[in-house]
Order: sequence, then C-alpha cells, then structure tokens
Amino acid sequence: METAGALLIVATAAIAAGAVLYHSLNVRRLKRWLERPGAASVPESIGVWDRMYAELFRHERAHRRENRRLARLIVRAAQAGRALPDGVVILDVHHRVEWCNDRAEAYLGIDRRVDVGGPIVNLLRDPEFVRYVESGDFRGPLELRPSRNPSLALSMRMIPFGQQSKLLLVRDTTQEEKVETMRRDFVANVSHELRTPLTVLSGFLETVQDLDLDRAQSRKYLGMMSAQAARMQRIIEDLLELSALESAPKPQRDERVRVAPLLARTRAEAEALSAGRHRISLQAEGDFDLAGAESELTSAFGNLAGNAVNYTPAGGEVRLVWKATPEGASFSVEDSGIGIAADQIPRLTERFYRVDRSRSRETGGTGLGLAIVKHALARHDAHLEIESEPGKGSRFTARFPARRVVSAATAGS
Ligand SMILES: Nc1ncnc2c1ncn2[C@@H]1O[C@H](COP(=O)(O)OP(=O)(O)OP(=O)(O)O)[C@@H](O)[C@H]1O
Ligand SMILES: [Mg+2]
Repeated sequence: METAGALLIVATAAIAAGAVLYHSLNVRRLKRWLERPGAASVPESIGVWDRMYAELFRHERAHRRENRRLARLIVRAAQAGRALPDGVVILDVHHRVEWCNDRAEAYLGIDRRVDVGGPIVNLLRDPEFVRYVESGDFRGPLELRPSRNPSLALSMRMIPFGQQSKLLLVRDTTQEEKVETMRRDFVANVSHELRTPLTVLSGFLETVQDLDLDRAQSRKYLGMMSAQAARMQRIIEDLLELSALESAPKPQRDERVRVAPLLARTRAEAEALSAGRHRISLQAEGDFDLAGAESELTSAFGNLAGNAVNYTPAGGEVRLVWKATPEGASFSVEDSGIGIAADQIPRLTERFYRVDRSRSRETGGTGLGLAIVKHALARHDAHLEIESEPGKGSRFTARFPARRVVSAATAGS
C-alpha cells in the first residue's frame, strides 16, 4: 500500500515536472520568437501550445500580407502624385512642406530632400504668395510669375483637407497666357486693319455728300472708295482663308496634286502681277507630284511668288525652282529685290506683320500672306525657310518631306 502511495506521489511529481518543463520551454520559445517575430519562424510544439502557435502563425501571416498591401498602396499613391501633370505640395498645419512632387520642385525651385519640413513661405518668398498664404482666403487661385523665373506663369491654389493640412496645387499657365495675349493682339490688329480703310471710306463718303461734284470728280472719288472697299474685302477673305486652314482637318495624303501645272499657273500669275517689270523664270527638276490639297498649295506658292514680285523693284529677277532634295522636295522663290533685315525674318509669318507698312499697303498687302503660307505648308508636313540679304534679294523655300512627295512611277493617275 505504501509503495503504491509512494509511486503515485513520484508519478504526480514527474507529471508536474513534465508540465512545468513543457510550459516553461514553450514560454521561452515564445519569448525568443517575440524578440524576432516572423511568420516563417513561428515555433512548433505539441498539445495546446501547438494550437496556439498555429493561431499565431495565421495572425502573423495576415498581418504581413496587410502590411505589404499598405506599402504597395503608399508607393502607388506617391507614384501617382509624382506623375500628376501639375505641381502638388502637401503642407501641414503650420504651412510646412510635408511632401511635394517633381513638378512642384521644378515650378517652385524647391528640393524635397532638403526642403521638407521648411515653411513654404520661406521657400517661395514672393510677397504676393506670402500674402495669399497668410490671408487664409483660398476661394480663388493666385496667378503668379515667380521672381526666380518670371518667364513662367503659374496659377496656384491652396486646398484645405484632413486635419488642417493643405494641398498646394501649382499649374503652369504660360502657354494659356501666351494664347490669350495672341488672341487679344489679333483682335486689336484686325480692328485696326479694318478701321483704316473704313475711316478713309467714310471720309470720301462725306466729301461726296457735302460737295457738289461734277461727273469726273464723282468718278474719281468713287474709284478711291471702291479701292478701300476692295482692301477690306481682301483682309476679310484672307482672314477667312486663314481660319479655314486652322479649323479644317489636315489634307489627306491620298489626294495627288499635279505639280507641273501648279508651277505653270504660279508663274503665269506672277507674270500678270509683274506686268513685264521683272524677268521671271521657272526651273522644275524631276517628274514628281505632291500629296495634299491643291487649293492650299496654289495659295502658298502664289503668295510666295506674289511677294517676290511685289518686293522686287522693276528690272529685277524672280526665279521659281522646284527640285528633289535629300529629305523630299522643295519649292523656292528667289528674287533680286529689297531683301529683309535678319532681325525681321522670324516675325514675317506673324499675322499682319509687315516690314514696311506703307510700302506693303502700296502693293495692297494685308500682312496675312506669309501666315497663310506657313499654315498651308504645316498642313502638308512642310516648313518654310527664309534667307535674305537687305538690298540683294531673298529666297523663300518650302520644304516637303518624302511622305508628301509622289513620284510619277508610283502614282496611280
Ligand atoms: N520676297 C520678299 N522680299 C522682301 N520682303 C518680303 C518678301 N516677302 C515678304 N516680305 C516682307 O514680309 C512682309 C509680310 O509678307 P506677307 O506676304 O505676309 O504680307 P504682305 O505681302 O504685306 O501682304 P499680303 O497679305 O497681301 O501678302 C511683307 O510686308 C514684306 O515686308
Ligand atoms: Mg504677301
């Protein structure tokens, strides 16, 4: 009996010792794992600890997965922010930079590696901007030309979000401003150009009404009036032509324009305009045509030849040359005329631009001819080259790329 009792005590003690060992071992393992947790290193065991470890493993894996998802999300959000076409700066409650994208760096001249944490008004010190930020009134944008780069026009807007944070959006409006200025200049120019003949016309009308004119005098005044009316009509026709060139779709490449008759017509028109005052020659090399719109090319070639006649004194020479070039083909008009100063050349294709207004007016010029040429050529993937020397003469060359040139051999008609 006694032995049985002793045995029971020993067995109980052994079980208790086993249990203590089992638990303390697992507690140690758990502690070690907690120091360096990871799904792959979750310990294994038996019994209740194994079930607990299994549960821990599941949690750990889910946690890791969630972390990875969030990390990916943050990276994507930052990538999206960076890819935005506008500048974005995130500001904290004290208007300190928390983050900004590449565009904002370029527009505002800041560097997020060193400027994060700095107040935005210290980084962009333009007084208008500082006033805007400090006013707290962000209903409208601030239009600013930053003093560090005044050629840049920026539209800036603060957008409050979250817990007193702010988003500063920066948009480059340089191009928009340029277009707006061009539009205003254009309207002013059109009005001015039309007002001049209209004023002259009204003056003549009053004269005719007020004075008792004889037949010959009336005819003289009516002639002068009709010249002014014709001038206005030319301006309007040219404007309509320009606007049609701007708004119509680009001419297709499958329409073939026969160059030989086009050149002959251009020459005949130049001869008519010159009325024998110039020597006009045509030199056409190669049997190939152009793909595009005939009316537009006629207008472009005619304008160039017309200018050569108009700006070359009597006795001068005008040469029309059509030839193949390494990149395609070219049409040039050379004259021995008055020429153009180098600083004027880049402005010639602007609407209404004339080097010598009074001379151009004498020839009935509106200053729209070269603008029409430039547009018509651009619609044929071609460009205009201008070389000139004052007093010696000029050469205007329209250069067409190979994709607009149709050789006679491949042409279907
Ligand atoms: N061959 C040339 N030689 C010298 N100056 C030229 C020549 N071609 C153009 N120009 C200058 O360029 C200006 C602009 O030419 P453009 O053809 O656009 O207008 P325009 O001839 O005055 O009028 P239009 O609209 O009737 O053609 C002219 O006023 C003239 O001063
Ligand atoms: Mg002209």
